[in-house]
Amino acid sequence: MHEKFEALIQGYLADDYATCEDFFDLNLIASLRKNLQKGHADGMMHQAGVGKQASFQQNQKIRGDVILWMENDSIEPSELAFMAIVTAFYAYLNQTCYTGINGSEFHNALYETGSFYKRHLDQFKLDSNRQFSMLTYLNEDWKATDGGELVLYLDGKEIIIQPQGGRVVFFKADKIEHEVRPAKRERMSIAGWLLRG
Ligand code: OGA
Ligand code: MN
Repeated sequence: MHEKFEALIQGYLADDYATCEDFFDLNLIASLRKNLQKGHADGMMHQAGVGKQASFQQNQKIRGDVILWMENDSIEPSELAFMAIVTAFYAYLNQTCYTGINGSEFHNALYETGSFYKRHLDQFKLDSNRQFSMLTYLNEDWKATDGGELVLYLDGKEIIIQPQGGRVVFFKADKIEHEVRPAKRERMSIAGWLLRG
């Protein structure tokens, strides 16, 4: 696992963002996808909001995904396996980069066909505890023609990333503006943040 941790860290140090293929093995990705689909079928997912507390607003002109938070006391095996790897990753990140991460938060996210998330920054204006963003894609056989790209805005450049299953994207939450372009099919991911607070 350390090679994959290093891939994210080295990429981030060199370019401010990193991607890694098959960061989580594909059996785990398949279980996480089934778990998300079950949550959706059971009516557990809700419209995502924008901002925090007083500035929280639900606004489908800004984002259209439905989400389900991963609880820290989850007993779902795929979520436990996911969180164990994330925790090992940030322990390694702390050791190698002195980042002081002491928690994390993740939600399952589903973008129905046509949904998007406009350009934004993940760190809240009034709360800086989100240090790093970490996205994990759960989609099988994503094609360039399916849309739903993640676009990172980096020094005037646009970095286009397809939400292919198993791919992880990692970047500094206060630095990189990004958006999700409208998807032409259902788009599933786990989005989350490494926290210091
Ligand atoms: C987010 C987000 C991007 C993606 O949830 O904040 O930017 O590719 N998601 O799912
Ligand atoms: Mn975001």
